[in-house]
Amino acid sequence: MRFSPDGPLRGTLAAPPDKSLSHRAALLAAMTDEPVAITGYLDAEDTNSTLAAVQALGALVERRADSLVVRGPGLRAAAPAGLIDVGNAGTLMRLLPGWLAGQEGGSWTLDGDASIRRRPVDRVAVPLGLMGADIDAREGRFPPFIVTGRPLSGIEYELPVASAQVKSCVLLAGLLASGSTTVVEPKPSRDHTERMLAAAGVRIARDGDRITVAPQDELELGALHVPGDPSSAAFHAAAAVLVPRSRIVIEGMGANWTRTGFFRILRRMGGVVVGPLEEPGEGVPAEEPVCELDVCHGPLVGTVVEPEEVPLAIDELPLVALLGCFAEGETVVRGAGELRLKETDRIATVVDGLRGLGAQIEATEDGFAVHGTGGLRGGALEAHGDHRLAMLGAVAGLASRDGVEVIGMEAAAVSYPGYEADLASLRG
Ligand code: S3P
Repeated sequence: MRFSPDGPLRGTLAAPPDKSLSHRAALLAAMTDEPVAITGYLDAEDTNSTLAAVQALGALVERRADSLVVRGPGLRAAAPAGLIDVGNAGTLMRLLPGWLAGQEGGSWTLDGDASIRRRPVDRVAVPLGLMGADIDAREGRFPPFIVTGRPLSGIEYELPVASAQVKSCVLLAGLLASGSTTVVEPKPSRDHTERMLAAAGVRIARDGDRITVAPQDELELGALHVPGDPSSAAFHAAAAVLVPRSRIVIEGMGANWTRTGFFRILRRMGGVVVGPLEEPGEGVPAEEPVCELDVCHGPLVGTVVEPEEVPLAIDELPLVALLGCFAEGETVVRGAGELRLKETDRIATVVDGLRGLGAQIEATEDGFAVHGTGGLRGGALEAHGDHRLAMLGAVAGLASRDGVEVIGMEAAAVSYPGYEADLASLRG
């Protein structure tokens, strides 16, 4: 699929539904006894894997015109055995064991695609093991792996790396444990699980970097709305900033401060992004704020992304590399070694991909350094089955001199099946 530099992006677009929140909505709905209606659920490969998983565990999923209704088996009543195919979904692979590990008498095998099989699960197996769970993984750390339900005890667990997936897994297991469970974060990461648990009536509290959850008899979730995905919207925002004469409005985007680090970085680089993003606050709110953003073309300057910012912009760092190519001066990302464990090694694939288009970019052990040259020649970029790499190539093509051929554009369907149609709507 070819993306060429033919004209500005203009118009208004609803941000597609949030992937992270959709996974959590389906899981927490399945953990609830009463039916839960979810509006705005993302219809994409990853989130459909989560629906298939909760169905395999005994939930009924009904697709209505304006919502998705999940009738769960409830917190302690998942079907006691099964093979769960997580597809390409790392979030499902890391969150689901938290729910399963505490259900005594059950045993489940989790597996996924080739990308999933190279992503480590020891990061969840270790804390769940400390709680009393039994997880048996290939070579001790890769899928396929078997979760066997056992009685769990609450723990205090200090995360070795800032990971919302691991934090969420431990908090979910904490619902089924005896005694309270505390997770200590080295840096703040997305807090969607905490907020949704608070909305479900769970006793959950944050005190600085410590999040504590109490054991629970049941969850109570009436209805859930999934707002627009800042990680998907970021591709359009970056394109609007890079392509001359562009101006777009993005509606209904989640404004949760733990997800909008990219937009703060973009503003710091000089990008004109108008709209209210949530400010960091105390405690655990039970809501997900939503905003409207107005983004237009303009010049950029290089920046340094420090380790503290990384979890707040983790999935958008490939776009920071692309913006850096067009910015004046150097753009450096530090403390982002986690990128090597995503759908692909995103330090290697982003650096190789952009270099193939003419970028002056170097990989470091835990990030990259880009020398801005004001533009990008173009060429071909291989997506390697990574949805965010495919969309990165598309944005690079729109802003490049000669255009970009993206090899494997179909990977975008993992998180944003309507990407090309939405882009076409902005190009008149
Ligand atoms: C996610 C958390 C992040 C992110 C991933 C989705 C989540 O991973 O990269 O795309 O939904 O919790 P880590 O928590 O492992 O950093």
